[in-house]
Amino acid sequence: MVPNVVDEEAYRASFSWAAARLQLDGLPDGRGLNIAHEAVDRHAARAGHVALRCLGPTAVTDQSDVTYGQLQTATNRFANALTGLGVGRGDRVFTLLGRGPEIYVAVLGTLKAGAVLSPLFPSFGPEPVRQRLARGDGRVLVTTPELLRRRVTPVLDRLPGLAHVVLVGDEVEPAPGPPATWAFDALVAAQDEDFEIPPTDPEDPALLHFTSGTTGTPKGAVHVHEAVVAHHATGFSALDLHPADVFWCTADPGWVTGTSYGIIAPLTHGVTSIVEGGPFDAERWYQVLEEHRVTVWYTAPTALRMLMRAGTDVARSHDLSALRLVASVGEPLNPEVVRWAEGALGLPVHDTWWQTETGGIVIATLPVAPVRPGSMGRPLPGVEVGLLARGPDGRAAVRGGAVTVLDGPDAEGELALRAGWPSMFRGYLDDEARDASCFADGWYLTGDVARRDADGLYWFVGRADDVIKAAGHLIGPFEVESLLMEHPAVVEAGVIGVPDPVAGEVVKAFVVLAAGHEPGEELRRELLGFARRRLGPAVAPRQLAFADDLPHTRSGKVMRRLLRARELGLPEGDLSTLEPAR
Ligand code: WT7
Repeated sequence: MVPNVVDEEAYRASFSWAAARLQLDGLPDGRGLNIAHEAVDRHAARAGHVALRCLGPTAVTDQSDVTYGQLQTATNRFANALTGLGVGRGDRVFTLLGRGPEIYVAVLGTLKAGAVLSPLFPSFGPEPVRQRLARGDGRVLVTTPELLRRRVTPVLDRLPGLAHVVLVGDEVEPAPGPPATWAFDALVAAQDEDFEIPPTDPEDPALLHFTSGTTGTPKGAVHVHEAVVAHHATGFSALDLHPADVFWCTADPGWVTGTSYGIIAPLTHGVTSIVEGGPFDAERWYQVLEEHRVTVWYTAPTALRMLMRAGTDVARSHDLSALRLVASVGEPLNPEVVRWAEGALGLPVHDTWWQTETGGIVIATLPVAPVRPGSMGRPLPGVEVGLLARGPDGRAAVRGGAVTVLDGPDAEGELALRAGWPSMFRGYLDDEARDASCFADGWYLTGDVARRDADGLYWFVGRADDVIKAAGHLIGPFEVESLLMEHPAVVEAGVIGVPDPVAGEVVKAFVVLAAGHEPGEELRRELLGFARRRLGPAVAPRQLAFADDLPHTRSGKVMRRLLRARELGLPEGDLSTLEPAR
């Protein structure tokens, strides 16, 4: 197969976003640009091609296929259902679903109806689910009876804006509510199979992705329909998607990777996607790659490290000859993983860097480029990247509104991007203060520190803030600290990430106990269990230690950076803002 980009320099020289836009169709009669039209309806001429190959829970060959034609009909019906419920332009529809055909139908049907889709991760506990639904003003939630019972029912009385719950599964009894309950299958089946997408401005909001910061509640990053231009262009360049490909993105659809590259980019390219719902299992994953002749595989360092643990023999006992490209995202890709993959999978791993806010890949090692283990690659064309000099707090130093852009070989600074590519978030939900704090001098500040070498390759150095990255998931320490402090035994908590050989980092909490409570194994287990029930397994701390006191800044904030340095035996750094011990 001839790669989409054969000559990297020529591709870079000829690239423009205007030209990238021309690779898409736009809505008929100049009615604008809608992600779902590009992903589904424009493939009418290949209606029989398989869009989704959904694998069942037993053998990997137990599959059910959804063609582009069937996906068009199903998404039309879902859009009609929403319209019938009075849900339309700008209204927010949330999904809390595992991988299966329904999430594709719900996401794309929502976009067709002009509503905004916000995906939630099924491993979130009731508290993260409530916060996001409340902040995002969710009117509709698509989930399953079990997830509803475990994750939503405990907080339902605090979600007055939620008008409709659509449940995927058998034996769902509709109920008038509030919120009104509907059975997904019956609701969709009752609809007309034709739907005309209403005029959609490229700047109309389409997706709302929550992400975690160092302080405060989760931030809702708003993306617009125009983002599809970047999804498609990067699917072409960084993932080398061709219509005949069998593509597998292992990311959960509750996160941005699972939406941008699990749903949108593969569909705009008309490829067949593997939809695999089960938990990680090395043997099964190799069977999926082998049996379904996967050609392009987009996964994450944690998954690759788990495969590495399972051993090279397991990999070698499978025929992976169909694989053409293995790419990774979400956390630092260790050089030894890249080298392991070369031996075990027969291919190196191509790194890609991006974030919830960027909406799509912005730095990557393109398929034609040689892999330099440990490096993320180069900025994609159409994106301007800068490294900014940092101040004592570790973030880019802003003086009188101005920043210092570093040049020269081996520059190291906060990674910053010039706003202006199509999938760049358009702001955080209702939060001008947070918008302002991450922009300076025309740059968007990513919170990551990176180095650029003499060849122009970028290397990930670390986070410039206290955000934790566990198994590829961003976790805000503030969310975890606040929850722990709701427990009567806890007066204060400080939460950091500590290194873990598989997950990269795991969450560790330090807690100061209220008078009358004694540290001990029983209380430790009680607190970990409390956090897990309320926050869910994806966010809850794995480790917990008792502390007599926590280090604070003079303004009273827990100094997590110092907590972490002490825990890991690292240099304590600039302590000028440390409050003297009491
Ligand atoms: C943060 C963004 C990218 C979509 C899924 C995560 C880290 C991302 C890499 C990489 C080292 C990486 C950064 C970034 N990250 N890709 N290739 N190498 N670190 O989106 O949850 O918004 O997380 O993930 O720290 O800022 P996210």
